[in-house]
Amino acid sequence: MALEIQSPLQSPLLTTTFGDVFEKLRMASSSSSNDSDEHNVQDLDLNPAHDFPYNHIRVRELGDGSEGIVDAYVHKPTGTCLAVKMIQNKPHLPAEVNILRKIPYHESIIHMYGFYGAQPQPDTDCILFEHCSGGDLFDLQKNSFEVNNAVFTEESMWAILRQLSSALAFLHEGVGCADPEQQAVWHPVIHRDIKLENVFVTSFGVKTDLSDIKIKIGDFGLATFYDPEDKRMPGHWGTSILWPPEQTWEGREATPAGDVWAVGCIIHELAHGFPPIEDPELHREQAMKSRHGAQLDRRLDPNIKRFYWEAKTPRWPLPINIDPEAHEFDRRRLRPTPRYSDTLNQCMAMSLQLRMEDRATAGELLEVVEEMEAAYHFRELEKETMAMVVDLTGDDSDDEEY
Ligand SMILES: Nc1ncnc2c1ncn2[C@@H]1O[C@H](COP(=O)(O)OP(=O)(O)OP(=O)(O)O)[C@@H](O)[C@H]1O
Ligand SMILES: [Mg+2]
Repeated sequence: MALEIQSPLQSPLLTTTFGDVFEKLRMASSSSSNDSDEHNVQDLDLNPAHDFPYNHIRVRELGDGSEGIVDAYVHKPTGTCLAVKMIQNKPHLPAEVNILRKIPYHESIIHMYGFYGAQPQPDTDCILFEHCSGGDLFDLQKNSFEVNNAVFTEESMWAILRQLSSALAFLHEGVGCADPEQQAVWHPVIHRDIKLENVFVTSFGVKTDLSDIKIKIGDFGLATFYDPEDKRMPGHWGTSILWPPEQTWEGREATPAGDVWAVGCIIHELAHGFPPIEDPELHREQAMKSRHGAQLDRRLDPNIKRFYWEAKTPRWPLPINIDPEAHEFDRRRLRPTPRYSDTLNQCMAMSLQLRMEDRATAGELLEVVEEMEAAYHFRELEKETMAMVVDLTGDDSDDEEY
């Protein structure tokens, strides 16, 4: 089974359905005797997903997820790099394919080129994605600090928060959808596993403060069309340390508000190096002091013990606009946190409200983030201009005292 879709370069708004492509493939293979068929064949040659893996060279492994391995391939005719996710054969289309093929193109959401059943091995299916050459945010954060002792600048934090909010406002509400009719009948999509590992970097940009970094949300393996009547996930899916406070181990209900919480977790983690939750190990130790807690812990399957205690640990966001010394004695602290602006902290707090009712929706968050980011840049520009004026005129307050 081969399903291909157009590249975003050919079609900024992805309207081609897999049905269309099937038809195209059928036409292309049946005959090439007339002009229209030749045109189809040409189109297919330019499509980096066409005829996988016979038109492709495997380069290296990119990642190893719970669903399978992701490898880098190059499409020989166009030189396009692809990320190919190999998963075990299933009798139906994987949920990730089913969701991504139905949503239009968005610049901060991973683009899927196509899907092949029983490729590149008979026992695997594979999904072909655009390749994000900067890897994922988890590795970026880890390497930045461990290798370069570097932390994220205020500018890069705004850029990341804006793109995540924009992607989420699109998924949840259709905000930014080019077709207003489509937005009017938008069926909300919830991702349910937003985390550093699932945010891919397409470009670091050209600025040293990473203020023009480009990111995309990927890994839609747990995503679904949201049904408010059926919020319960079949299993303890996702990453329990990043679940919002309202999502309990027993209820396991996932909502759009949970995605918004997860975006706040990303900002919290990039700033502090840990998620907005009390130390789960400490929480477990305390719970174990009671007989009930100790019995429960013994009964838990060792494979899920950690996830259970992470789900049970109270959420506890730490502001990001405080003096680095102010949380020196915080047990969760891994490294000093830079002091970010009050407005960035305010935006993070909008998505990390403990009560779901108080939390911003993705659309509200995007609006405030865009406004405050612009105001931040404006203030910085003003400061720079003032500093230049002082440099040029030698006019500063110290001089006035003489
Ligand atoms: N398009 C891509 N470009 C670059 N790297 C990618 C791409 N897709 C995936 N990767 C890398 O492969 C890793 C695993 O991919 P992905 O998260 O989609 O798989 P998964 O099996 O669903 O993972 P998990 O369930 O563990 O979250 C990512 O964290 C990332 O490092
Ligand atoms: Mg993943």
